Amino acid sequence: MAKPVLLVTRQLPAAIEARAAQDYDARLNPTDEVWFRDGAEIARRAVEARADGVLIAAGDPMKGPAIAALPASVKIITTFSVGTDHIDLEAAKARGIIVTNTPEVLSFATAETAFTLLLMAARRAGEGERMVRADKWQGWAPTQLMGVTLEGKKLGILGFGRIGQKLAGMARGFGMEIHYRDLRRLPPEVEQGAVFHETDDGFLAAVDMLSMHVPGGEGTTKWLNAARLARMKPGALIINTGRGNSVDDAALAASLASGHTRAAGLDVYDGEPKVFAGYLGLENVTLLPHLGSATIETRAAMGERALQNLDCVLRFDLPPPHRVV
Ligand code: DGY
Repeated sequence: MAKPVLLVTRQLPAAIEARAAQDYDARLNPTDEVWFRDGAEIARRAVEARADGVLIAAGDPMKGPAIAALPASVKIITTFSVGTDHIDLEAAKARGIIVTNTPEVLSFATAETAFTLLLMAARRAGEGERMVRADKWQGWAPTQLMGVTLEGKKLGILGFGRIGQKLAGMARGFGMEIHYRDLRRLPPEVEQGAVFHETDDGFLAAVDMLSMHVPGGEGTTKWLNAARLARMKPGALIINTGRGNSVDDAALAASLASGHTRAAGLDVYDGEPKVFAGYLGLENVTLLPHLGSATIETRAAMGERALQNLDCVLRFDLPPPHRVV
């Protein structure tokens, strides 16, 4: 029997590409050519290949028109990401195309990235690194680059899902007090002593540091705006490893410039890979290039998950384990 045709938009870890090539008639993108940024081009290639499945990644724009242009042969879109904000899920559903993602396996890695940014922001690690590289370091000084400790501070976690809970576990090890805001209060075994807040105002006013873990989408667009930043304590830290569009960049940059927000650490950006120009000249913001899940172990596990979903739909006629729609 002919192997199912699989269009893969991005370069993937070698072992995942090898497995895809073994079990599928795989149309790979081994050099990561940037056609994946154009949904129409993804659809065009799917038509050309008569693809049965399309394996995309975080950010590949599968919005309504691109989904409408996919050939009737496509049964599944699987995304190499937990986030699905780059896909028009309703459009896929309307066409009867299954959409799957890669949850759970990236929670720890993404929480590690949030914690990295938290430490970097608190301890001014980006500034220090830039100073040394620029050959501007004059030696140890009693008042040089003094940051703040995490110990004893209140960490506010916006979105207490899998990633937020992993971050809470790490932060407890640093003696932090955990506060969280979510749609609803979680059971005590999940909270493990974390303080639930029923309102944004109460939450923001209570915490010293905020880590954002919202999945993106219209409901949270520019959630962290000037008014919410103003409600936070002077000297608060802001970390975002969720989605960039949940932050009002101009408001955060202004708050950082004024010193009301002491420092920020960002891994995700509205319209990435474009980064809001107002951040680039600020010393008190650490900017990472969407490294959230970027560990060798996690990317391998994400690839396995993507293939597992594809196998179920295209090879074994089984329900995929990580179906979104
Ligand atoms: C995801 O999986 O949605 C991440 O943002 C990619 O690391």
